[in-house]
Amino acid sequence: MGKINFILNGKSVEFNCPDNWTLLRMLRDGFRLTGTKRGCGKGECGACSVILDNKIVNSCLILGNQIDGTEITTIEGLSSNGELDRIQQAYIDYGAIQCGFCTPGMVLATKVLLMKNKSPNLEEVREALSGNLCRCTGYRKIFEAVLSLKDEK
Ligand code: FES
Ligand code: FES
Repeated sequence: MGKINFILNGKSVEFNCPDNWTLLRMLRDGFRLTGTKRGCGKGECGACSVILDNKIVNSCLILGNQIDGTEITTIEGLSSNGELDRIQQAYIDYGAIQCGFCTPGMVLATKVLLMKNKSPNLEEVREALSGNLCRCTGYRKIFEAVLSLKDEK
């Protein structure tokens, strides 16, 4: 057990994290942020994706105690004052909302992509979302939603 301090969805928080808890478990069981999902539990599906210091990471592979002093954003941190982030809105507008397991991670991976590259092409979108798996519905509408957010200037 160790006390850690970090920024979670824009707010400074403190948590006594059991040594064997992953970041995923800490978010879900400690903070009740259940938008972050457990899929494979071993770094293969992206359902547990969160943004850690502006990078997309699999929270099932990181121990909670490792994130002291960092900044974490989960899917719950994207909307503000009840307003959806433009990525969430684009996913809705393009029919790209799929199940609750894969969608949060896809949206967060899109967020990180657009932070680094305001006008990604299709290959760059594919690459950025390659760690987020869906074996049921496909990716076409998701790619369309992300490409609609390109900054054309
Ligand atoms: S649950 Fe973490 S990558 Fe699948
Ligand atoms: S895993 Fe979510 S729709 Fe396929």
